[in-house]
Amino acid sequence: MRIDIITVLPELLKSPFEASILKRAIDAGLVEVHFHNLRDYTTNKHKTVDDTQFGGGAGMVMLIEPIDKCITALKEARNYDEVIYMTPDGETLNQGTSNTLSMAKNIIILCGHYKGVDQRVRDLLITKEISIGDYVLSGGELGAAVLCDSIIRLIPGVLGDETSALTDSFQDGLLAPPIYTRPREYKGLKVPEILFTGNFPKIEKWREEQANQRTMDRRPDLLE
Ligand code: ADE
Repeated sequence: MRIDIITVLPELLKSPFEASILKRAIDAGLVEVHFHNLRDYTTNKHKTVDDTQFGGGAGMVMLIEPIDKCITALKEARNYDEVIYMTPDGETLNQGTSNTLSMAKNIIILCGHYKGVDQRVRDLLITKEISIGDYVLSGGELGAAVLCDSIIRLIPGVLGDETSALTDSFQDGLLAPPIYTRPREYKGLKVPEILFTGNFPKIEKWREEQANQRTMDRRPDLLE
């Protein structure tokens, strides 16, 4: 898989890809991540990427021209499954979207800044708009990092234990059950006895019940 990220602040985005699972996935050649600084696609002397709003109003708007130049150059080199714009008014990211995107070959992610992009960018160039939640970030970069992390960990071979992504919360529409490791007892809190029985069908059943209970208690909306 190849991910091209378009941003005015590449330095804000790079570190999540330089550690842990994402770095391993990149080093193993399972994913390529390329950063494109929008300022490199400007034609004016000051490398301006934004301007004031037509009609008045506070906040700057990102210009269509450098964005179009960058996306067009990328599309000339290969086909893309999606051109995604990170924005608080996009569809809220969920595990289903991450699963689908993890099967893509090439995607572009555009990070917005200031008030956002000229509407014509969205009309002309964007195929999917994603929000990471109902709150406003200063830019799309942190959202893009969240999106990439959730996608990349699902690519086969990225997680050491192939099954572990399948037992994540949300993967089967339920929250994950409680988990324990040593010690068996800590400050009077004991690990449930069932986990020491060695009866794996029974343990599996207990985990399912716990997952159901936890989902009912915390996220009943997931069961609807
Ligand atoms: N940019 C600003 N806020 C955002 C959000 N909540 N999700 C994605 N991109 C954003």
